[in-house]
Amino acid sequence: MKTILTGDRPTGRLHLGHYFGSLENRVKMQYDYDTYILIADVQALTDNFNNPSKVRENVKELALDYLAAGIDPKQSHIYIQSLIPEATELTVYFSNLVSVPRLYRNPTTKYEVAQKKELFGDSGEGITYGFLGYPVSQAADIACVNGNIVPVGDDQLPHIEQTREILRKFNNIYGETFNIPEAVLSSTPRIKGLDGNEKMSKSLNNCIYLSDTEEEINKKVMSAVTDPSKIRKDDPANPEVCMVYYYHKLIKNPNLPKVCSECKNGERGCVYCKKELVRALVEFLEPIQKRRKYYEERPEEVERILKEGTYATKKKAEEVMRRVKENMKLNYFE
Ligand code: TRP
Repeated sequence: MKTILTGDRPTGRLHLGHYFGSLENRVKMQYDYDTYILIADVQALTDNFNNPSKVRENVKELALDYLAAGIDPKQSHIYIQSLIPEATELTVYFSNLVSVPRLYRNPTTKYEVAQKKELFGDSGEGITYGFLGYPVSQAADIACVNGNIVPVGDDQLPHIEQTREILRKFNNIYGETFNIPEAVLSSTPRIKGLDGNEKMSKSLNNCIYLSDTEEEINKKVMSAVTDPSKIRKDDPANPEVCMVYYYHKLIKNPNLPKVCSECKNGERGCVYCKKELVRALVEFLEPIQKRRKYYEERPEEVERILKEGTYATKKKAEEVMRRVKENMKLNYFE
């Protein structure tokens, strides 16, 4: 059976961008793969080192979001990154296999540096060794369970490419040790925001969170961007440029053909259409929020799931590490 390794940083609640970008895929795939889902607290600290409480609080939130979204603890090992020292150790060995200029060229890291000027400075002069190197630690996350498949959103592709380069180099120098993993993207790897922005993202403040209430959803949908050429409610409009239509389509509203034809024919006002979207979103999120509530009321069960997931991951990582040490000639007393 092939192995999946993927995860997220615990820095905030998960939103529909995460769901359609990758979570939905993970939920489907977990039945056919040995699946490890990491809560990347070590990586979250690379740009939140000055705010450990934020990371700590979000570990639990992320676990709840995973379980709510349908990650099944009987199928998947959900684990906490910092509890796997093998990954930290492997990061050090991998750091010899990547050049600093190569790390500087990573477009995702670059984007994050540009976003966080208060932390990294206007021209990135405050960029830390730890932050620059987090893709190396990401390679170690994947390698320490010898992962084959990494279901992620498209912002993660540069990291997976980096991982592949490191692991190929490792195999060349020390002998065949690791699978060369592949990223798996969903059919919608990047979800637009209701504000018309190309990406749903916390920093753009345009997210619909999996845990949003009807009231919150209503507020967000009501301010969504629609076809600007439509002035009156019976003007015909172009659904292809409307974010409300985009979301009807995204959540597979069975009423979609009607939404489209009525919009084109000027038979549907935007407020009416938005109200329908709010209802559809609430309905879509209902099973997710029901599961969240179940686990919120059972914190000891969530803790047990994390402990068991971490234990299983650690066992696997120890096994991989034995082979690493043997191949690197570091197995001194064996
Ligand atoms: N970079 C991912 C994020 O920003 C988190 C992550 C850490 C990850 N290690 C990983 C994803 C390994 C996939 C594989 O959320």
